[in-house]
Amino acid sequence: MTGPNRFPFSPFPTGWYCVAFSSELAVGEVRPVTVFGREAVLFRSASGRPALLDAFCPHMGAHLGHGGTVEGESVRCPMHAFRFDAAGECVATGYGTRPPPRCRGEAFPVVERCGGVFAWCGPGAPSFDVPPHDLEAFSPLRTKTWTGLRSHPQETTENSVDLGHLSVVHGYEDVAVIDPLHTDGPYLTTRYRMSRRPLVRGTPTIDARFHIHVWGLGYSFVEVDVPSHGMQTRQYVFATPTDGDTITLRIAMSFRFVSALRRLPARLLDRLVGPAMIRNYENDVSQDFDIWANKRYVHPPALAEGDGPVGKYRRWARQFYPELAIADAAE
Ligand code: FES
Ligand SMILES: [Fe+2]
Repeated sequence: MTGPNRFPFSPFPTGWYCVAFSSELAVGEVRPVTVFGREAVLFRSASGRPALLDAFCPHMGAHLGHGGTVEGESVRCPMHAFRFDAAGECVATGYGTRPPPRCRGEAFPVVERCGGVFAWCGPGAPSFDVPPHDLEAFSPLRTKTWTGLRSHPQETTENSVDLGHLSVVHGYEDVAVIDPLHTDGPYLTTRYRMSRRPLVRGTPTIDARFHIHVWGLGYSFVEVDVPSHGMQTRQYVFATPTDGDTITLRIAMSFRFVSALRRLPARLLDRLVGPAMIRNYENDVSQDFDIWANKRYVHPPALAEGDGPVGKYRRWARQFYPELAIADAAE
């Protein structure tokens, strides 16, 4: 069964989605990407500004992501050397003649935040923003990307409030809600705690508190405090719909110690602990993949006590499907 048939709504919910980690897109770099069921070209201009345009040159249709190059603030088409700025405007032809008025490419709204480049998917201009976070005292972000995952941003985001699966799939124990799920427009937040058997024998049981922040279905930020280990982590989950059947899933994390260990040089700590931290995070996230790849969306779900606030989450998530919003308005 393919993705779209498994979900009774668009594979492309309205919202911001990560199209690259900032560190992956150098100044002057051009790359082809598939997002929101579209072929697109991502580039970073000479001044460092990222831009995402429809891939196909409005002049005669060459793919700007294959052979296109950055010139100043524009991308240059490989076929006749027309150039396009971040707004998709044709700023020059290859012949030094006047750009034809109709020669205009489609530009996606783009912002750069928190180590990621985000593009807006949806009808019209962005209706909300994604906030920056201050990771000043934390280690440099470590990242991991999986492409071609058969899933949907609905599923990856719902997962963070699906408290029942945390013990079954991830081995968490004593999961308890600290602050109930709260929503405010495109923003959703909740706090819970859990314990877990130590990853290293002889060390204390892990006691962790999670503060979840979600903006739309593509952008999750989790503040994790682990008082048992005198540590805090900051974790991102970015799910990006690509061809309609699969998503690209990006995760990132940084950490800091609040125990005596914090006195060690930050670079040394990062070298000693960083690789294991991101590996554990990768392992945790990948435990869900097989289930995501083969499940379907059941609505209404047959919820039981112990599931967590899945019902409330679902009511919130509907706002990101333009086709459901239209149906809701007609009711
Ligand atoms: S097809 Fe792009 S400049 Fe002609
Ligand atoms: Fe999970």
